[in-house]
Amino acid sequence: MRLDEGIGCELMLDGKKSIFSGMQATGTLTLGNYLGALKNWVELEDEYQCFYCVVDMHSITVRQDPAELRKRARALLTLYIAAGLNPEKNCIYYQSHVSGHAELGWILNCFTYMGELNRMTQFKDKSAKHADNINAGLYTYPVLMAADILLFQSDVVPVGSDQKQHLEIARDIATRFNSIYGDVFTIPEPYIGKQGARIMSLQDPDKKMSKSDENPNASIYLMDDKDTVIRKFKRAVTDSDNQIRYSEDKPGIKNLIEIYGLATGKSVAEVEAEFINSGYGDFKLAVGEAVADLLTPLQTRFDELQKDKAYVDGIIKSNAEKANYYATKTLRKVQKKVGFPERIR
Ligand code: TYM
Repeated sequence: MRLDEGIGCELMLDGKKSIFSGMQATGTLTLGNYLGALKNWVELEDEYQCFYCVVDMHSITVRQDPAELRKRARALLTLYIAAGLNPEKNCIYYQSHVSGHAELGWILNCFTYMGELNRMTQFKDKSAKHADNINAGLYTYPVLMAADILLFQSDVVPVGSDQKQHLEIARDIATRFNSIYGDVFTIPEPYIGKQGARIMSLQDPDKKMSKSDENPNASIYLMDDKDTVIRKFKRAVTDSDNQIRYSEDKPGIKNLIEIYGLATGKSVAEVEAEFINSGYGDFKLAVGEAVADLLTPLQTRFDELQKDKAYVDGIIKSNAEKANYYATKTLRKVQKKVGFPERIR
């Protein structure tokens, strides 16, 4: 079957709703990325048809070393699998391997207002950080992100809370397009976990944990070994009242309670009860151990997969074909709606 025929896609979707999400291959993935997004993805694979993308095209909005970007992109794709995403059930691929992202991105640029883009807080933050390279791609980043999501007619987009504004603009663009051309796009809903939606920095708990933080003690990286994880938690900034209580006015402890709860599957009340007679030293050690236990199997699997080049290459090839197939289906529909000439077969 030719890719652009788009026959039978509905059947292949198996009547399931679809999910799209992605991560940037810049910096080293943190516990925030894992608990806020990746961990939730793994739980959705049976219920939905899922597309998980390594968004390398987004990464070049900031200058990258080419060899380093390629290496990080491969590592991220491998990490998706190591984290438990089954590549038979989930479509795991590189954004740059599916040209429909860029093609739909262009069309959607023409349906997005500069006033909307001017309001994006991430653009303001990144422009301040990269003042010597405020390029148009950084500005239209949310449009490419909308294209990512809408290309797969995504019903649900699991992300951390920092992506909420980008999800809102994607919905606005889709609604605008549909109001002109009829029901072309599914309007996506964000899926933001109740806990873990915003894991905070260990050194400044008022700031989110971020791949780009210059202080390595602020973040747990997914490849940190056990000793490093424990050391970083021991150094985590907290208040001094020595009570393990979940409260807005104790941001450091609140963050550690959330992390411990997510790592062990315990509720906030259970965590508070467990440590009612403990001090911060014991609690921090327990959090460190729980997180190290969570990361060790992921790291082992990652090492195994890195050695199995042929297996990962096979996934990259077959899943890009699958993603292209679905992407082309939406793209052809959109191209027709806006008035591009039909292809001659
Ligand atoms: P990125 O690469 O910055 O982050 C990937 C995912 O991790 C979540 N996240 C966090 N969650 C909780 N606590 C934190 N401290 C934390 N830090 C990051 C993010 O919310 C995200 O879900 N623009 C996106 C990538 C993207 C995308 C998309 C996402 C491109 N196209 C389409 C969804 C749908 C980004 O830069 O994520």
